[in-house]
Amino acid sequence: MNQDELKATVADAAIKEIEPQLEKDTVLGIGTGSTANLFIDRLGPLRDRFKGTVASSEASAKRLTELGIEVFELNSVGNIPFYIDGADEVNTHLQMIKGGGAALTREKIVAACAKRFICIADGSKYVAQLGNFPLPVEVIPMARSYVARELVKLGADPVYRQGVVTDNGNQIIDCFDFMIDDPVAMEASINAIVGVVTNGLFAARGADVLLLGKPEGVERTALN
Ligand code: 5RP
Repeated sequence: MNQDELKATVADAAIKEIEPQLEKDTVLGIGTGSTANLFIDRLGPLRDRFKGTVASSEASAKRLTELGIEVFELNSVGNIPFYIDGADEVNTHLQMIKGGGAALTREKIVAACAKRFICIADGSKYVAQLGNFPLPVEVIPMARSYVARELVKLGADPVYRQGVVTDNGNQIIDCFDFMIDDPVAMEASINAIVGVVTNGLFAARGADVLLLGKPEGVERTALN
């Protein structure tokens, strides 16, 4: 099985995970990226079984709307039982690096509001230590150089992601050569730099369930 086929197996598994729990008033949190897109596509035929969604990006909102699935403003929604999203890296504690698609801030906000975060990823995303994938940091544009200098002090090799503007009108710095020993502490340290909107470490609030696509089948890990 190739990577796309493995992504499809976890999208199917996520549908199986949430389908029995869908109610007429259910609002789902939806992530961003190619794995999340496969999940969105499978949600289309179920659209009459639940109320709608909150999207973590304009791209996901568009895809959901095109499938006839309602997309609500987060501020108008109370309870989100599930947030379903991919990851760039995930470890054994279900801590993640996310933001390869530059949607990290809205992803983190919707995940924070959700009762359960279901991470869907192909097996290549599973790592012993986070950091091989360059850690994205969303920054207020005028603070970019200052934040980059502060990231160097933390041990990173920061690179401006040229030409990318986030859905929030901000910029992305990717931290290369930055293996992370303590994801919770590093998430907090980077977020404490003035001008940082947020960083792509999802450690303080990791996933609750990981559905990992492997050639031999989908491996399910649940922490909560
Ligand atoms: C987007 C993300 C994605 O979840 C992450 O990049 C994984 O993407 P894909 O499912 O395409 O491999 O964080 O900001």
